[in-house]
Amino acid sequence: MSTPQAENITMSAGGRYSLATAGARDVIDGATKLVVRAIGEVPVAAVDGVFTMSDMGCADGGTSLGMVRTAIGAVRERFGRAAVKVVYADQPRNDFNALARIVHGLGGFDGYLEEFDGVFPLFSATSFYRAIVPPGGLHLGFSATAMHWLSGKPGDLAAHVHAVGAVGDEREKFAAQARADWQTILLRRAEELAPGGQLVLVVFCMDERGRYLGNTGGVNMFARFNALWRGFVEEGAVTEGEYRAMTLPQFYRTVEEFRAPFEGEGAAARAGLELLEMETRVVPCPFAAYFKMHGDADKFATAYIPTLRTWSESVFYGALSTARAGGERRAIVDNFYRAYGDEVRNHPDGHAMDYVHAYMRIRKTR
Ligand SMILES: C[S@@+](CC[C@H](N)C(=O)[O-])C[C@H]1O[C@@H](n2cnc3c(N)ncnc32)[C@H](O)[C@@H]1O
Repeated sequence: MSTPQAENITMSAGGRYSLATAGARDVIDGATKLVVRAIGEVPVAAVDGVFTMSDMGCADGGTSLGMVRTAIGAVRERFGRAAVKVVYADQPRNDFNALARIVHGLGGFDGYLEEFDGVFPLFSATSFYRAIVPPGGLHLGFSATAMHWLSGKPGDLAAHVHAVGAVGDEREKFAAQARADWQTILLRRAEELAPGGQLVLVVFCMDERGRYLGNTGGVNMFARFNALWRGFVEEGAVTEGEYRAMTLPQFYRTVEEFRAPFEGEGAAARAGLELLEMETRVVPCPFAAYFKMHGDADKFATAYIPTLRTWSESVFYGALSTARAGGERRAIVDNFYRAYGDEVRNHPDGHAMDYVHAYMRIRKTR
């Protein structure tokens, strides 16, 4: 299961994740039609008074509030007064206090609980590499922008921070881990799903044109991460070992890699899962779009850097030697994002964290 390294990954605490991630919400909003279609196809007979949905890798739950509200409306339309269980799942180190506050309407976001009777949010600190709900108990499994995180790190990269910059054997190790992990994710969901239940999975990918997060034609975000971190080694701010330890345990699968387990005698096909639809989409970086309107590089950098920081800072921090005092580690990480911010301030054009996802709808056939 997850290695200590993988467990270092958390989103920023205290609800800041959603505030800094308007783009992630746009990504989820774009999946709402698939969610409604999925609910519309769950057999009425499969729901005996209780409809169970999950949001796997939910972080603080803020980005999916609108999608969950629409999903509950669709459940009510199809299944009448059925109670709705919404199982929010993330890793144990996630900030579950922020999650509970946001879902219960205390986080400054518009919640949905006041609008409906018979809706039961539940909070689970179980990884999506394990079963989150009992066998046959799930009607709709949802996940956005989470399943690119591998269950562990297959190794440290010698010359990059992300598998997108890896080559040869190093890349193949990550690809193999991603294949095994995708299979595990699907098999755990096949156990959970009721017959006719569906999954809507929105997963970071490498699209048909080779695009991926932060690499859609302008400045390559991961190349900048790598160059700046390498520069810290050259300045003597971090060691070679710390440079290598900053390897993100992530992989951006291609559509072929997503599809493989559903084909022929693939593990997902054998487990009764059918891939109903899949398409790749690019959702533009809202900060870069806003910058095009206002043209103020300082304002852009100040808003943009926190969105990169939410999902990457715990890995940078975790890469630094524990022989350093906590304050020193935090200062290095602060300096890193300051350096990235200065770069954006001085040369803002081309910086953008456009999202590149595969949107999938999957059905349990039996
Ligand atoms: C980028 S956030 C996405 C949050 C939200 N779904 C969204 O789209 O805005 C990724 C989330 O996936 C979670 N995550 C990573 N690996 C996980 C695992 N194995 N099981 C459950 N959650 C995981 C992280 O803790 C984090 O909260």
